[in-house]
Amino acid sequence: MQITIVKSKEEAGKEAFKYVKEAIEKKEDSVLGLATGSTPEVLYEEMINSDVSFTEATAVNLDEYVGLDSDHPQSYHYFMEDQLFKHKPFKQTFVPDGTLGEEEAIKQYDDILEQHPIDIQVLGIGVNGHIGFNEPGTSFDSTTHKVQLTEETINSNKRYFDSIDDVPKTAYTMGIHSIMKADKIILMAFGKEKAQAIVQSLEGEVTEDVPASILQKHPDLVVILDEEAASELSSAKQ
Ligand code: F6R
Repeated sequence: MQITIVKSKEEAGKEAFKYVKEAIEKKEDSVLGLATGSTPEVLYEEMINSDVSFTEATAVNLDEYVGLDSDHPQSYHYFMEDQLFKHKPFKQTFVPDGTLGEEEAIKQYDDILEQHPIDIQVLGIGVNGHIGFNEPGTSFDSTTHKVQLTEETINSNKRYFDSIDDVPKTAYTMGIHSIMKADKIILMAFGKEKAQAIVQSLEGEVTEDVPASILQKHPDLVVILDEEAASELSSAKQ
């Protein structure tokens, strides 16, 4: 595991971009595993403003709310179009289909992941240690599945909706096993509210109660944190 602590989100975006650029330079048809939420926005900004072409690359996203179609402004499809794909075209992009029934959605996405093994996976982390929408208690062996979102996650995500009642209560997500199969993983976190999840995930016991703790076992994990998110780490405290 390699941990980089930076002064600002913007610096983190630049740092994460170095790895994405390196992957594309090595293999222009790389498969990038991407995330939504506020954390990766600084990376997408760097990608958009760069002269790196992604027209041969494939993007595979982590998750989607059940019931929201791709035109819904709060859907993760829409988010990705808006934040990245409409500015920087990819050869192909995949996000779980929130309009499909459970069985079909899961099969479709597991097939996509099988056909497009991820070279580099970008992750944010929830305040409860979730990655993707894999909430505490999710099996480390999980592949794509439907999840019941926790109150904590619904509360964190309500900022994107008119009211908390509009936040979907279920989602489709890549599983933890699917995430761990990526060749390289870049985990980013910013702000004091992520400090506890970060210390538990990186220095605590590897347990399904803290989904991101499994990342300790990944052979090529890069962690990019701002000082607040890193503030509980023992190495940062010395
Ligand atoms: C989003 C995702 C989530 C977020 C996490 C952090 O696709 O998979 O795990 O990465 O909830 O969200 P932000 O970045 O908004 O703090």
